[in-house]
This record gives sequence, C-alpha cells and structure tokens, in this order.
Amino acid sequence: MKNYTRCLQSKPRHRLSPHTDLRLFTLKYNGLKNFISVNDVPDLNDLVAKALRYKADPFCDRRMGADKRVGLIFLNPSLRTRLSTQVAASNLGMEAIVFNVDKEGWALEFEDGAIMSGNTVEHVKDAAPIFGKYFDILCIRTFPSLKNRDDDYSEMVMNSFLAYAGLPIVSLESATLHPLQSLTDLLTIKETAPKERKPKVVLSWAPHVKPLPQCVANSFSQWINAWGQADFVITHPADYELSEQFTAGATIIHNQDEALAGADYVYVKNWSTFTDYGKIYTTDPSWMLSEEKMAATNNARVMHCLPVRRNVELSDEILDGPHSLVTQQAGNRVWAAQAVLAEIVGKM
Ligand code: CP
Repeated sequence: MKNYTRCLQSKPRHRLSPHTDLRLFTLKYNGLKNFISVNDVPDLNDLVAKALRYKADPFCDRRMGADKRVGLIFLNPSLRTRLSTQVAASNLGMEAIVFNVDKEGWALEFEDGAIMSGNTVEHVKDAAPIFGKYFDILCIRTFPSLKNRDDDYSEMVMNSFLAYAGLPIVSLESATLHPLQSLTDLLTIKETAPKERKPKVVLSWAPHVKPLPQCVANSFSQWINAWGQADFVITHPADYELSEQFTAGATIIHNQDEALAGADYVYVKNWSTFTDYGKIYTTDPSWMLSEEKMAATNNARVMHCLPVRRNVELSDEILDGPHSLVTQQAGNRVWAAQAVLAEIVGKM
C-alpha cells in the first residue's frame, strides 16, 4: 500500500493513453506467491492494469525492491526474457543476478533417487536451496525435451525448484507454459483493442524447420481463455491439436482462411505435435501468413513472441509492415515482468 501511494503521488513520465483503464488508479498489491501459470494470478485484469501503469510511469516504485535480489537462472537461451526481466528489476530498485546454468554451472540432476554416475554433477535438491539462500525471488527458464510428453508435462524442472528452493518462483518459460509472454500479449491486446466490442483473436499455427515447444501456444490459449474478453479461435493443420487443458473454450478451425475472417488479432506461432509428441508433420508454406491472407481479416494486428524465422513463419512484408505488433509486444515484456516482480516483492 505504501508503494502504491508513492505511485499515485509521482508524476507519470509518459502520458497515459485515453484508452488506459482508469481502474488502475485504484490498485492495491494483492501479492503473488509464485508465477508459474495464470492460475497463480488472483486478478488478471488488475495485473494487466498494473503492467500498463508501469509502462506509463516506469520508476514510480523505484525503491520498492531496495535491498532485494532476484536470481535469473537460465537452463536455455534467451534475449527478451532475460533483458526485460533485468530492466524490470532495475526499475524496482532490485539487483538482478543472471546465472546461465546451462553454460556456466554444474550439470543438474532432477530425477529423484538417481544414481549420479553419469554426466550430471549436482542434484537440484542440493542446488535449489542454495539459490534460496542467495536470493529473495528466483526466476527459472527451462525448455521441454520434446522427447517424452509425460516427463515434459509433469513440469519436473519447475516443480523441483518450487519444492526445494524455499522462495517465490517466477517462470521465465517452462516445459509447457510461458506466462510472462502471455501477460505481455494480453496487455498488448488490451492497449490496442477496440473498446466497444470483443476483439476476435486468432492463434494461427505457422511452419518451422525445427520442432518447437507448445509453451507459447498453450500459455496464450490459457490466458486468453481466462481473460474471457475475446472471441478466441485457434487454427492449425490436422494433427497439431494442443492439450485441451489449455485450449478448452476456444473455437478450433482447421481451415486457416475461414479462421482468419474478421480477425482483429492474428497471433502467429509454430508448435510441434502434441499427440504424437514433438514431431514435425508438415512444413507446408501455405500456412505462412501473407498480406494476401490478411485481406480476410478486420485489418488485423499481427503478433509473434519472437524470435521469428523470417519468410518461414512470417513474411518480411508482414513483419516490416503496419500490421506488425511484434516490437511493441517485446517492449511490453518489461512492464509484464515489472508487475509480476512488484506483486511479489511488494508483499515482502
Ligand atoms: N519471447 C521470448 O521468450 O524471447 P526470448 O526467448 O528471447 O527470451
């Protein structure tokens, strides 16, 4: 509440959009214990509004995180997630320490009861509590193996840190979800959407040369469904179904042209197969979004989490044209991370 008051008293550095939700001026910090999925968020609209408040006034809580440290632990590469979370922590006065455990640390073992006579050097049971001694918040990025669906969907890595670290955990992307990306996506839609009606949001599968995780598509589906303020359609080739635990409530259409009709937003993303797990069934280039396909939409804005394979997933003409929201989206990663870190540190 103290920090919230400071936010109110400070002068915004940027003018608020006339569309900005004025409810954000009556916000309180509800607190987050962990941030792994949308199910950890007590009030989704409140969190989106907080992120937009930080966009309008990045340093209004510049002392909130004083004397607090956040550990950013990467088991996989990153550009946006790493840098935006560092900037977000800095805006709150927190120190962020990055550890690329995949390149610089001991190889971690996650299997309970493992006989560690192979390549792994340190068990997560031993490493995670150490992070707990050094940091106030621990942020973890890990990817799925895409080899064994049950293992990946059990979220063994993220759950191990939750079990053994003994401090709040923020997912920087897990085996199945990417919640900071989804919060960013939602606030990007919120700040650009028509106010008078529900937007039509289409998640459109795109070709790719490598098998990619389902995380972004799962997570986007989960968050848009939880938000409940869009007509949500998913389009993909046959046999690219996502897990129903995330998509239930969306309309699924296999004809991309039909799905795109009247769309206000097209979120382009590749994912590998879920049922016959981690496979590429097609790289059909006709699924790549083009200006020609865009003609059926309602002058849609185009979204992608990045990195993007140009002229495989999305054409140059779309990415470099007026419909693209991808840079605005990536910029908004800072405000999403700042809102989440503030929700946790504001209650410490
Ligand atoms: N969108 C996203 O998570 O980007 P990075 O992999 O670069 O962090």
